[in-house]
Amino acid sequence: MADPTIVLTPYVQAAMAAAFGPQWREADPVIRPANKRQTSADLQVNAAMAAGKRIGRPPREVAQGVIDHLAADDVVAKAEVAGPGFINVTLRDDWIARAATEQLADERLGMPRPEHERIVIDYSSPNAAKEMHVAHLRTTVVGDSLARTLEALGHTVIRQNHLGDWGTAFGMLIEHLLEVGEDSTDARLLKTDPNTFYRAARTKFDTADKAEPAGSAGDFAVRSRARVATLQSGEQESMRLWGEILDLTKGYLNRVYRELDITLTDDDIVGESSYNDMLPGICDDLEAKGIATMSDGALCIFLDGYIGRDDKPVPLIIRKSDGGYGYATTDIATIKQSSLDLKANRALYVVGAPQNLHFRMCWDAADKAGWIQGTEPIHVQIGNVVGADGKILKTRSGDLVSLQSLVDAALQKATEVVGQSRGDLDEQVRATIAQQVGIGAIKYADLSVSHDSGYSFDLERMLALQGNTGPYLQYAAARIRSILGRADVVDPSGPITLTEPAERALALRLLDFGDVVGQVGETLEPHRLCAYLFDLAQTFTTFYDQCPVLKAEDAEVRDSRLALCTLTRKVLVRGLGLLGIQAPDQM
Ligand code: ARG
Repeated sequence: MADPTIVLTPYVQAAMAAAFGPQWREADPVIRPANKRQTSADLQVNAAMAAGKRIGRPPREVAQGVIDHLAADDVVAKAEVAGPGFINVTLRDDWIARAATEQLADERLGMPRPEHERIVIDYSSPNAAKEMHVAHLRTTVVGDSLARTLEALGHTVIRQNHLGDWGTAFGMLIEHLLEVGEDSTDARLLKTDPNTFYRAARTKFDTADKAEPAGSAGDFAVRSRARVATLQSGEQESMRLWGEILDLTKGYLNRVYRELDITLTDDDIVGESSYNDMLPGICDDLEAKGIATMSDGALCIFLDGYIGRDDKPVPLIIRKSDGGYGYATTDIATIKQSSLDLKANRALYVVGAPQNLHFRMCWDAADKAGWIQGTEPIHVQIGNVVGADGKILKTRSGDLVSLQSLVDAALQKATEVVGQSRGDLDEQVRATIAQQVGIGAIKYADLSVSHDSGYSFDLERMLALQGNTGPYLQYAAARIRSILGRADVVDPSGPITLTEPAERALALRLLDFGDVVGQVGETLEPHRLCAYLFDLAQTFTTFYDQCPVLKAEDAEVRDSRLALCTLTRKVLVRGLGLLGIQAPDQM
């Protein structure tokens, strides 16, 4: 294991045990990278602060005690007390060099193997027969990155695309499908431009109601409502037509997912409809357990701690007065299934922040019923993507901006950028690069900001080749490839040796990769990986400015620097891969 924090931990624990007794053997030594503005040391050990308090001794004295007992000569070059009781640690150059050489030989590049978990991730989850909009883009991108990262850490990941494939809208969608004809070009819109299909059905539904006397035979709205009832009773022809709409919808989704390089497939679709059979039983059980009660004809759950603005308890309605089930009932079913059937250790819902109350209430209800056993449900809250004016992205007609229009705009801009920078390449190659860069830019913009805060969708900024952007990192990786291409070695493996400060800084930063990926696996915050990769790319630039690689005079130094280049490229490419971003060979 290459990560310095992890390597140093047992040494500090042993020193604490030797100085203050065996109970400190397991204590977290709280090791962090040192603040480079204050010290030239590499790491800071903070354990003495808390320990001092607990044993009633001044932290500086405790810190000195730890240093006196620290037997880590093979790793540590210098350890000294700093400030109110920190320990500043400088690592040995030869240890860093050896660890980096090992990292290069390690297929996992130092990624840890945490204790295995089964993790359900609900993400993307658009609504059938409607176009995905900008909010779905972000839940899709963040969820996919988490799925890739958790899988790389060795966990079993169960992807779930909780497609909105049930509900009253299907009555009008089926009737509209029948009117336009199943084989018509209008029907095919579901595959290419689902919003137009949806809007046509909606318009008929809304206007029909007013234009014709309610209940008249030609009334589209009346037929649609009747269709909802036959569909819900499971009538064969209605079910077939519903299936037809879903098949076309899947065609649309798959096109979007392939274009964006998202790992979801048809096998991951676990739509709302798939929980139908569980819903009556869930309601009966909750009522029998005394958790749900009838209120105004609806079956409701009142939970402690959820009080509305009117000071009255907020009800969680699980069966409406017309007997229908809603979004809450299905989400009680999803957590029950993830926990009791799928035995998930963690169940992630990568969904917009405004749905937080909904999830908390569903989980509290499920927990009360004993349906969450050994599972931690987590809402990975997704913040809004706003326009340059700070407002929610809407089209002139007031709809949310569609995902496709954003992707198209990004690809067009990327084509311009690549056209300018690489006019020398042939068109086919340029198109592939533009695709990778355009999609990479969007994904990186979604991921580099903490997932619960908003950001503004600014194509100019996200496609810039400078700054914390996807294209900047892609460019850094491509540039290293070209450096390596100009060297005459195939697979430089070092050994890495360190003499220059810029080499040392680069090697040390590379060693952090595993720890950062491990942190993303725990905190579910891909922006930490983005920040790391950006910093790594900058550290590399400093190294490359200060240390000649191809022109290094000494053969061993040249080999070592080529090995550092290779390792940097590997970490960048692997890191981008965890974000779901491809690294073009040239840019
Ligand atoms: N379809 C919902 C929407 O578009 C998101 C569903 C999220 N998943 C869930 N289990 N509730 O807002």
